[in-house]
Amino acid sequence: MLIRDLEQGGEQASRQAAELLVRCFSHIPSGWHTLEEGLAEARESLGPDRVSRVALDENGDVVGWIGAVPCYQGHVWELHPLVVRPDRQRQGIGRALVADLERLARERGVDTIYVGTDDEDGRTNLSGVDLYPDVLSRAARIEDVGGHPFAFYRKCGFVVVGLIPDANGFGKPDILMAKRVESQGPQ
Ligand SMILES: CC(C)(COP(=O)(O)OP(=O)(O)OC[C@H]1O[C@@H](n2cnc3c(N)ncnc32)[C@H](O)[C@@H]1OP(=O)(O)O)[C@@H](O)C(=O)NCCC(=O)NCCS
Repeated sequence: MLIRDLEQGGEQASRQAAELLVRCFSHIPSGWHTLEEGLAEARESLGPDRVSRVALDENGDVVGWIGAVPCYQGHVWELHPLVVRPDRQRQGIGRALVADLERLARERGVDTIYVGTDDEDGRTNLSGVDLYPDVLSRAARIEDVGGHPFAFYRKCGFVVVGLIPDANGFGKPDILMAKRVESQGPQ
């Protein structure tokens, strides 16, 4: 497997990346529902300051895609999007894409990578409940009930840093997770 910039893969890579988004996220309201929407996201990911990297298999086909959007004057990158082709999940590709992004972040002096990982389809114990008023104690007691990706991020070293209750309508929170990017030496 090879990880490279989406841009280097040309139109074919962008199309395959867009297809992955639709395949994996069209079942949720905030997802991508048409190829056009996926292609628009791929185009946007190629903008200035953005990071957009794909994992390619031995045939040159896209099997995973990760992106980052700089924020907080470049101290922080928002990880967006991340997707691995369903038939290639649980084979270490997601972890490899996150590690590659961390390497780039480290090289560019970024301090933190964060991700908002929504629960729109009842895959954690934070779904379908009123998270107020003790939102942070709810966050500390998060549990997986249906294969939600927060467990994946946790394995990659991210921790839950907050919740946006009702981010996608009542009982459908966004789960905010972050990881410090270790610097390469004394600042
Ligand atoms: C979440 C996703 C990116 C993970 O990628 P992946 O290639 O399957 O993950 P990896 O194989 O690198 O897994 C790394 C570790 O996390 C674990 N893991 C992966 N997905 C998991 C999940 N949903 N729940 C619990 N653990 C998970 C793996 O078992 C592995 O653990 P191990 O190191 O102990 O063996 C992938 O499942 C995916 O694309 N899902 C659909 C889109 C999505 O939800 N994207 C994230 C949106 S925020």
